Amino acid sequence: MNAPILTVRDLAIDYPRPGKPPFRAVKGVSFDVRENEFFGIVGESGCGKSTLARALCGLQPIASGDAAFAPMPRGAVQMIFQDAVGSLNPRKTIGDALAEVLAVHRLCPADRRDARIATLLDEVGLPPDVAASYPRELSGGQCQRISIARALAMNPRVLIADEPVSALDVSVQARVLNLLADLRARRNLTILLISHDLAVVRTVCDRLIVMHAGEIVERGPARTVFANPTHPYTKTLLAAVPDVAAALRP
Ligand SMILES: Nc1ncnc2c1ncn2[C@@H]1O[C@H](COP(=O)(O)OP(=O)(O)O)[C@@H](O)[C@H]1O
Ligand SMILES: [Mg+2]
Repeated sequence: MNAPILTVRDLAIDYPRPGKPPFRAVKGVSFDVRENEFFGIVGESGCGKSTLARALCGLQPIASGDAAFAPMPRGAVQMIFQDAVGSLNPRKTIGDALAEVLAVHRLCPADRRDARIATLLDEVGLPPDVAASYPRELSGGQCQRISIARALAMNPRVLIADEPVSALDVSVQARVLNLLADLRARRNLTILLISHDLAVVRTVCDRLIVMHAGEIVERGPARTVFANPTHPYTKTLLAAVPDVAAALRP
């Protein structure tokens, strides 16, 4: 088994409320994610998934407990969000947006930027001429591929994908998930996939945690959890899963 790349212990996260005690959105969760693992965090809307994800990236203060990645260079943990279209600047071509990331973070000499952009686009399954397009000229799935390419430009070791396919049609969801699975293997990435949809997590994840109201109510290898859910909440989630899984893999 690979070494842990992320260790979370008794992590609690609060939102302050005026005139009231803070609201505890994450109530002391503990889990490990191993190197090169495809790890799922699943649970219904409002259960604390995004709050947890933001805290892991240092974007949200922690009330108590710990969340620590193994030592790695800056930029090695990258996030991908649901609203891929909205995360792209409408006034910049895809090529300019990617060039800016490469320039700002000094990832590539100027004379090699175009080649690097073509490689990044190829990695996410897009042709090089997409570089000349504006976000509005692309589909939701293509925009999500661009936001993945933008994350890859940073040479990440960990991708945290918060509802990355929730805004996409089911057939497109499958292709983007398969892309993430391919990238995990090709780039030796660790991926944390967050979704309210068990069908999404089920297709690609090795292990998962199920969250409910800020707590982990179930955990284990994806296969075990799906074959034999123990918590009533997981059973409810599973009962609501349409047979998307069948569309995802041949
Ligand atoms: N900025 C915020 N201020 C106050 N409460 C918040 C804020 N963001 C989220 N919450 C609350 O925290 C809980 C968890 O939210 P969130 O992490 O967004 O859940 P999920 O991503 O699973 O849908 C919800 O009850 C939500 O209303
Ligand atoms: Mg969320």
